[in-house]
Amino acid sequence: MSQATTTQPPSSGPATSSGPNAAAVASAYTSALEVIAAVEPDVAAAIKGELANQRRQLKLIASENYASPAVLLAMGNWLSDKYAEGVPGHRMYAGCEMVDRVETLAAEHAKALFGADHAYAQPHSGIDANLVAYWAILAKRVELPALEEAGAQHVNDLPKDAWDRLRHAFNDQRMLGMSLDAGGHLTHGFRPNISGKLFDQASYGVDPGTGLLDYDAIARQAREWRPLLLVAGYSAYPRNPNFAVMAEIAEEVGATFMVDMAHFAGLVAGKVLTGDFDPVPHADVVTTTTHKSLRGPRGGMVLCRGEYAPFVDKGCPMVLGGPLPHVMAAKAVALAEARRPSFAAYARGIVDNARALAEGLSRRGAKLVTGGTDNHIVLMDVGASFGLTGRQAESALLDAGVVTNRNSVPADPNGPWYTSGVRMGTPALTTLGFGPSDLDEVAAIVTDALRATQPASATSKAKYTIDAAVAEACRRRCAELLAAHPLYPEIHL
Ligand SMILES: Cc1ncc(COP(=O)(O)O)c(C=O)c1O
Repeated sequence: MSQATTTQPPSSGPATSSGPNAAAVASAYTSALEVIAAVEPDVAAAIKGELANQRRQLKLIASENYASPAVLLAMGNWLSDKYAEGVPGHRMYAGCEMVDRVETLAAEHAKALFGADHAYAQPHSGIDANLVAYWAILAKRVELPALEEAGAQHVNDLPKDAWDRLRHAFNDQRMLGMSLDAGGHLTHGFRPNISGKLFDQASYGVDPGTGLLDYDAIARQAREWRPLLLVAGYSAYPRNPNFAVMAEIAEEVGATFMVDMAHFAGLVAGKVLTGDFDPVPHADVVTTTTHKSLRGPRGGMVLCRGEYAPFVDKGCPMVLGGPLPHVMAAKAVALAEARRPSFAAYARGIVDNARALAEGLSRRGAKLVTGGTDNHIVLMDVGASFGLTGRQAESALLDAGVVTNRNSVPADPNGPWYTSGVRMGTPALTTLGFGPSDLDEVAAIVTDALRATQPASATSKAKYTIDAAVAEACRRRCAELLAAHPLYPEIHL
């Protein structure tokens, strides 16, 4: 296993600071922006503007984070120029030695970090990782038996009638995944996504009284539905699913068990989620993003048991475009960072901060889905708490300097566009060095802003008014918190 080559930020400072490398990072960005500005000044201006925006607003978007300068810099270079279809040591292009090196490093770091048999670092995003996983599962469970039955080695060897039967069989498989309004993701078999067009999907929800997963109900549904594939994982569920129990359900009905840990991969990496709550030992296939709580570059990954590895490795060109070597390099850097003890402290901080946010909101009268949180997410019912739609609350919070996103709550009366909820998460603020007392002040800002917000009319679910003086005071308080916890403090643009 190669050793990490990045410099660890000082434990007292924000994880976005480069510690002893601060001067080098500052000059790297100043120089890079000069070079870009000489060709297209508007792009250089937009890059500077984005940093200014991110420094101005409290980022409570649960799926966002701040990658370290080392991760960001690993992406901006000539690795980007290389074509590398295939896998390390087995490519369709010559001259891939360095791509092999970074892809192998990313996979080795991922295997060691998560204890996985196999890791595939090529997916360009979480959606792509799920597509790779679905097609790998279909290849193993549907295509391989069809090839064996026909005595063929490859789909190209099948006669037309056998191929037609196989094509229809792909489309005839069942999936069971978490419902959208319980916190599931569109890629878990919903019609607007290709997974819903591919699979015949049924979804499990949460207990209407508690908002929690009901494993007995899921088991009953699985016995009836008999899916080929059981999917766990969420975008907006503030508790930790028990993957050992879900794996037993999958095994009983003969389903492949897949977990999409896109949101909580950082909590798995940081060993906050262990035992029954760590998906890797329990699932056949685990997919993830690398840019949310894992704090790497924008991208995805698939981890799997050895028996699925040859199928997962065919992700490109099955469903993926050519690999992005520069992003795989950044994944290797981020995974090296995540293997350090400081990342475990970071992961614990995310959860402590989420709990402080939830307690601060509840103490000030806000109603939270499931009554609180055990992970990085707090889902606030703004309809029940403040008489607002999610859309109105999201916009008012932005006026107050807080970036969130609206989200459905279970059995949401306002549907998936306007919603009745606001989802908040603590990975980004924890990266900046925020602690529980800061999150209590964030809870105060959020509730003050929403108490000062009213629907503008009885008919519009989008229009609202917010008291301008309160919004201004909230922005000032956000600025004070952010000044105490600066983003990339060494970069002066
Ligand atoms: C559970 C889950 N899976 C997959 C994705 C998709 O990730 P990406 O946006 O990287 O494609 C998301 C992101 O929203 C997610 O929350």
